[in-house]
Amino acid sequence: MQLLNRSLGEMNLSFKKKEIAFLKIAFSQGLYTSMLVSAMLCLLFFLRVKNLVTVGDFALILGLSSQITDHIWNCTEIMHRINGNSGMCGQYITYVLSPTEVKDKNNPVSLSVKRGNISFNHVVFGYHEKRIFFHDLNLEILPNEKIGLVGHSGSGKTTLINLLLRFYEPVSGKICIDGTNIGELTQDSLRMNISFIAQDAILFHRSVLENIKYGCINANDDDVIRAAKRANAHEFIKDLRFGYDTVIGERGVTLSGGQRQRIAIARAMLKNAPILVMDEATSQLDSITEMYLQETLDDLMKNKTVIIAAHRISTIAKMDRIFVFDNGAIKNCGSHDYLIQNCDTYKQLWEKLRC
Ligand SMILES: Nc1ncnc2c1ncn2[C@@H]1O[C@H](COP(=O)(O)OP(=O)(O)OP(=O)(O)O)[C@@H](O)[C@H]1O
Ligand SMILES: [Mg+2]
Repeated sequence: MQLLNRSLGEMNLSFKKKEIAFLKIAFSQGLYTSMLVSAMLCLLFFLRVKNLVTVGDFALILGLSSQITDHIWNCTEIMHRINGNSGMCGQYITYVLSPTEVKDKNNPVSLSVKRGNISFNHVVFGYHEKRIFFHDLNLEILPNEKIGLVGHSGSGKTTLINLLLRFYEPVSGKICIDGTNIGELTQDSLRMNISFIAQDAILFHRSVLENIKYGCINANDDDVIRAAKRANAHEFIKDLRFGYDTVIGERGVTLSGGQRQRIAIARAMLKNAPILVMDEATSQLDSITEMYLQETLDDLMKNKTVIIAAHRISTIAKMDRIFVFDNGAIKNCGSHDYLIQNCDTYKQLWEKLRC
C-alpha cells in the first residue's frame, strides 16, 4: 500500500508539473493574443476615425483576427497532446527495443531437426552469477523419446526448459540438438523447431484466430479451426462474442486459465514442430477436459521428441522416462514403475499429487 501510495504520489507530481507548464504557456499565449487584439482594435478605431477603413473592412479584419487566434489556440492544444503521446510512445519504444540478453553468435547456423536427439553435457547455470543452480547437469534424450520432468516446486524443471529454448545461456557446458550446440544456432531457427506450451500461456492482445495462427503464420483459417477443434477449444471460441475474431485482451485476460491453455495447445498443434515442450500445459484444465484432450495430446506427441514438466504426475506416468529433479540436480530417472520401486522422492510425489 505504501509502495502504491508513493508511486501514485510521484505520478501525481509529474502530472501537476506538466499541467502547470501547459497553464504557463496558455497564460502567456492568452496575454499576447489579447494584447495583439487590443492593439489591432485601437489601430482599427484610429484608422476608422481618420476614415481610412470602411465599416466592412473593420468587421472583416476583426473576424479574421478572431479566427487566427482560434487557430493558434487549437495548435497549442494539439502540441500539448503530441507532447504527451510522444512521451508515452518513447517509453514503449524503449521497452520494445531494449536489447535481449541472449545474442546470436557471428555466423550462426540454422537448425533443421533430423532426429530430435537432445543432450545436456556438464551444464552449469545460475540465474545470478554468484548463485549457481545447476552445478553439473547431464542428460541425454533419444530421438522421439517422451520425457517427463517431476520434482517439488523450485526444483529446476522450468529452468531446464528455459535453457533448452535458450532464454538463458549456461555458464559452461553444452546443450545440443542432433549434435549441434544450440549456442551456435540462430535463435529463430531453434524456436521454429520447438513447439512450446509455457506454464503461463503466452497470449497476445489480438484475436483468437491470430493467437492460434502465431504457431504457423502461413496457415489458413480452416487449419486454425481444425487445430482449435483438436485442442477442445472450438466450442468455447464459437461462444465468444465475435467467435474467432474476439480480441482476448492483454495476455488473454478475458479468458479463463484453462481456455488460455487450450489456445496455446491449438497453437502448438498448428506449429507441429519436431520437438514438443510442455511446462504444466494442462495444469489449469479440469480432469474431464484433460481426459478429452489426452487422445489429442497423444496424437500430437507422435513422432516427436517430447519433454513435459508436470505437477500432476498422472499426466506423465506413461512417459518413456521420467527425470526426478531435486534442488537443481537430477536425483533419479527411469520409467514410472522403476521409480515407484526405487525413488522415495518420486513415490512421495506420486502419493501426494496423483489425481
Ligand atoms: N527468472 C528467474 N530469476 C531468478 N531466479 C529464478 C528465475 N526463475 C526461477 N528462478 C529460481 O530458480 C529455481 C528453479 O526454478 P524453476 O522455475 O526451474 O522451478 P520449477 O521446478 O519449474 O518449479 P514449479 O514446479 O513451481 O514450476 C527456483 O529457486 C527459482 O526461485
Ligand atoms: Mg516451473
